[in-house]
Formats: sequence, structure tokens, C-alpha cells
Amino acid sequence: MNNIMVTGGAGFIGSNFIRYVFNNTDFKGNIINYDKLTYAGNLESLKDIESKYKKRYFFVKGDISDYKKVIETFKKYKIDSVVHFAAESHVDRSILGPEDFIKTNINGTFILLKAALESAKNGSFYRFHHVSTDEVYGSLGPKGYFYETTPYDPRSPYSASKASSDHLVRAYYHTYGLNVTISNCSNNYGPYQFPEKLIPLSILNAVEGKDIPVYGDGKNVRDWLYVQDHCSAVWLVLKNGENGKTYNIGGESEKKNIEVVKKICDILEELYPSSENPNLSGKKYKDLIKFVKDRPGHDRRYAINCDKIKKELGWKQKYDFDDGIKQTVKWYLDNKEWINNIKSGEYKKWIKKNYINR
Ligand code: NAD
Ligand code: DAU
Repeated sequence: MNNIMVTGGAGFIGSNFIRYVFNNTDFKGNIINYDKLTYAGNLESLKDIESKYKKRYFFVKGDISDYKKVIETFKKYKIDSVVHFAAESHVDRSILGPEDFIKTNINGTFILLKAALESAKNGSFYRFHHVSTDEVYGSLGPKGYFYETTPYDPRSPYSASKASSDHLVRAYYHTYGLNVTISNCSNNYGPYQFPEKLIPLSILNAVEGKDIPVYGDGKNVRDWLYVQDHCSAVWLVLKNGENGKTYNIGGESEKKNIEVVKKICDILEELYPSSENPNLSGKKYKDLIKFVKDRPGHDRRYAINCDKIKKELGWKQKYDFDDGIKQTVKWYLDNKEWINNIKSGEYKKWIKKNYINR
């Protein structure tokens, strides 16, 4: 691998992945970040990388659904591998309007596969790694786990679009022999996550003295993984994963949403006591927790079995939830400029349009 195209590199996981590869691996080649810069894309998340790796990091603004631009980028940068993160990623948005999810997640993935196959025909392509989600497997009851062999059962327009893209990637392997790998990962958290997702939303709302919205009874379970651990897993699969295979990645750290939110409040009390926060007017952070109307079709529980990647590729998580969440809260307290910029534009308008009291 010399020239890796990272799609969606300006998003949460993509930007962490680019930083991880440059700073934590022996990779000596170039990374081409191909991103449309939707509301979720933010080049400020890569300012350090842009200046530190001027000769090896390149940004191309483009839509993955635009074949002409994609193939032009493949040719210009002699792309030999793709790590495909670009997607519409937020379940609530997919419920409010699925169109962009279909266009980007399904059609966009198809266009990338088509370009990769074109390059492979010319003998200059190594691997297409597709980053997917545990949500394709549906919802679990109180027991059991998702395995790589669990049948797909997506429930939201987001997870249905990701499931479709996974099937397309597999089809390109079986039908055309394209070298592909797929990973299905559980909920990520950590620095640079867009503040519409539960963890950053809870931290930022608490600090601003706003309600912390918890859907339904707060007992839905997610399996949380620190973003750097996801990045190390994707890197291993890209390098050493078996052609045509799928790898589950998970935190083995199941938490009810209400536990997560209460934990955030406890950490905030320690790092920035509510008594010193003028936005709290005498309240404690936990007083802000508010149970609100449930998400339609809200999956009850996700839990990943990730024995395969551990056994076959020697991966394991480095961060446990208590350390990771504390670092994350601290990061959001320390990075006001990034937060103010991201919250000032389109996001502010969207929140106003779609939610009351946020
Ligand atoms: P994100 O929403 O933070 O970032 C998505 C990025 O993709 C943004 O930079 C955006 O500008 C870009 N993008 C969107 N549409 C595009 C298009 N048409 N063309 C080019 N770029 C486009 O998402 P994330 O949370 O970083 O998720 C990244 C990937 O990981 C997604 O594929 C998601 O399904 C998957 N995933 C996420 C999680 C999670 O917990 N966040 C867990 C498992 C899998
Ligand atoms: O499981 C992997 C998936 O995790 C990824 O594929 C998605 O891209 C990513 O967005 C994430 O999906 P979730 O829907 O699980 O994440 P979200 O942060 O939106 O919600 C986490 C849980 O918290 C979920 O049970 C819904 C709940 N929630 C969410 C929000 C935004 C609340 O209770 N209140 C909220 O305000």
C-alpha cells in the first residue's frame, strides 16, 4: 500500500483514523482524504495532520457518488487501497429523511466499488476495506451476541442502507474477485465526534445547563468502543485481514444509556463542579437528565462478539470505558473553539428545526 484513499476522512472516525495511521503505525506512504464536507465533515479536526504531514496528506473535496471525480482522484493519486468511512451516519436523521442515506451509503459505495474494480483491472489495486456497523444485525434481547455469521436484520433506514452497502461489497468480491474486507463495529466515542450523538450531546448540553435528553426508559444497551481502538482494528484488517472476510469489532463494554449519561454527569462534577458552572444556577448536572419520547424502532440492545479479530489478527482493545469516557469529557471541556465552530453553522439551524428544548 502506497496511496490510501480514506473516504469520509473529515468525519469523526475517519479523522481519528488518519491521525492514527500517521502517528501510530509504520506506514510510509500517502493518505488522500476524499470527503464531501457535509454538515458532519470538518477539516479543523485534521489541522495538526495537515501541517505535520504536508508531503503525505492530501485533501480532495468530492462526493463518493460522483464517478467522474472519484476515478479522476484514483488516477491522479495512483490510489491502491480504499478505507471507506464516508456515510450518512446518524440514525435520527435517517428517520427524519432517508434520501441522503440511500444516495451516499448505497449508491456512493457502488460508485467507489466500480472505480476500485476499474483500477484492479489495470493491476494497480490492493484492497477495498468497507467500514460498517453492528446495526446491520438488528436488535438483541437481554442475552446473546452478534457474530460475523448473524443474519442481517436492519431496522432503521440508516442500518438498512449500511446493510445494502455491505452486500454490494461482498457481491464485488464474489462476482468480480475484487479484494475486499468488511468490519462491523459497535458504538464509538472519543474526540472529534459530532455533537448530535449521545455522548458529546450529553457532555455539551450539561455544560450549557440544557436538558440531557434520554430516549424512552434509558435502558437501551450499546457496546461502547473508544475510537482509537476502532482505528487500530481497521488498520489491522486492512493490512492483514483475509480477502472477502468480515470482522466484528466491539468494546465488550455494554452500558445502558442512562448509565452512560449518569457517568458523564459524575465526571463533570469532578472536572467542572456544577457549583462553579454559572449555567447550572444551583442545579446538579444529574438534575438535567430528562426522559423524552423514544426513537421510533429503537433497537433495544447491541453486543458484539469480537473473538475472531482477536484470535486471527491479534487485536485487542486498549482503553476501558472508565478511562476512555473521562478522556473524552476532558477533551470536550478543553476544545471550546472546535465545538463553537461546529455548533455555529448548519447544525444550529437543524437543531432549531427538528427539536424543541435542545
Ligand atoms: P461522521 O458522520 O462523523 O462522518 C461522516 C463523514 O463522511 C463526514 O466527513 C462527511 O462529510 C463524509 N461524507 C458524507 N457523505 C459523503 C459523500 N456523499 N461523499 C463523500 N463524503 C461524504 O461518521 P462517523 O461516525 O465517523 O462514521 C464513519 C463510518 O463508520 C460510517 O460509515 C459509519 O456507518 C461507520 N460506523 C460508525 C460508528 C459510530 O459509532 N460512529 C460505529 C460503527 C460504524
Ligand atoms: O452501533 C453503531 C452505531 O452507533 C453507528 O453505526 C452509528 O453511525 C452511530 O451513530 C451509532 O448509532 P446510535 O444510534 O447507537 O448512536 P446515538 O449516539 O445516536 O445513540 C446512542 C443511544 O442513545 C441510542 O440508544 C439512542 C440514545 N439516545 C441518543 C440521542 C442522540 C438518547 O437516549 N438520547 C439522544 O439524544
